[in-house]
Formats: sequence, structure tokens, C-alpha cells
Amino acid sequence: MKATDTYEGTIERTLFSEAEIAQAIERLAMRIAADYRGKPLLLLGVLKGALYVTVDLSRAIARIVDGPSEVCVDYLCVSSYGSATRSSGEVRMLKDTTHPVTGRNVVIVEDIIDNGLTLEYLQALLGGRNPASLASCVLFDKPYHRRVDVEVDYVGLVAPDEFVVGYGLDYQELFRNLPSLAQLRSRVFAQ
Ligand code: IMP
Ligand code: MG
Repeated sequence: MKATDTYEGTIERTLFSEAEIAQAIERLAMRIAADYRGKPLLLLGVLKGALYVTVDLSRAIARIVDGPSEVCVDYLCVSSYGSATRSSGEVRMLKDTTHPVTGRNVVIVEDIIDNGLTLEYLQALLGGRNPASLASCVLFDKPYHRRVDVEVDYVGLVAPDEFVVGYGLDYQELFRNLPSLAQLRSRVFAQ
């Protein structure tokens, strides 16, 4: 049984297939590997949403010859309050990084950017810890409702102006393990 079978009947349409997501991650990996060629890199995934993209991106970078001299992977966990389908920007740190970021070349890895407040919070927090460099990578960009002018260095795919799930993104903690990115049927929200 596939994850898509598990969620059958709840998905309106697939926005990006598993293969399209994999290709986007390959493209991100090539750009990041080139920019950090010969340098140590710390990939900092933002849980829970960026769990999958951080895993796949870190391995895609490892397959590239002439990439970073070394790659560390760490995670932090934040939760942002708001309505069910829109974050408020009130970000709470649930788990900080395991290792210090001071003096490191850090790339924040996020699942999606919407209003931008989560990434703005993380950039300010981590930037204040004096990393050698700080960049941001988001797999999906929803550029329609930005509330802050936050800089994103690496963008994978531009998603439509919908609430989306899959590939790490959840609705009430479900759908994260869906391998594709999908739009839910409206009746799912109505429950
Ligand atoms: P922002 O603070 O509005 O930029 O949103 C960032 C966070 O909100 C992401 O890391 C996600 O966890 C969550 N988020 C934003 N849009 C979506 C969506 O369409 N589906 C699921 N989660 C989302
Ligand atoms: Mg997230």
C-alpha cells in the first residue's frame, strides 16, 4: 500500500509529484554545493516540516563531486501559532540546535515560506550568534502573502496560493509522509 492510498479521498490534486520534488532538490543541491565548494557547511533543518527536505538535500549534496569540504546536519524545532492554515509569526523555539552555529557556514533549510515571519525570526536569532555566513533555502515558496521582506537565497519550487500538504508539510500533523505535494479537498478543513 502506498502513502497516496492511505490518503485517498482527501486529496484534491497533486501539485508537485515525487519526481518533480526530487529534481528540484537536485537543482538546489547543485547550487549549494557550488557556492560552498571546498568549505565546511552546516545544514540546519527546521522541524518538523523540513525533516524530509533536509535529509534528501544533504544526501544530494554528498553525491556531488567538488562540493563542500564537509557537511554537518543539525535540526532545530519551532512551532508558530496561528489559525489552522496560516502562521501568526509568533514563533516558539521547542528545540534549539544541538551544536553551536558560531563561526559556521549555516544554511537554514525550511519546507515552505508563506508570510515570511518564521524565517525572519530564525535569521535574526541565528544571525545574532555570529555564524561565519548565514543563508536560507526553502523547498516551496508561496510568495503571495509576505508580511516581511525576508531574503531567501535558494528556492526550490513556487507553490500556488493554497494550503498545501505532503513532503513534510502537515495539516493537523497528518499528511507529512505523503511523497508528493498536494492540495487537500475542502471538506477536510470543514471537519
Ligand atoms: P510563514 O511564517 O508564514 O512563512 O510560514 C512558515 C511555516 O508555516 C512553515 O514552516 C510551515 O510549517 C507553515 N506553513 C506555511 N504554509 C503552509 C502550507 O501551505 N501547508 C502547511 N504548512 C504551512
Ligand atoms: Mg516549517
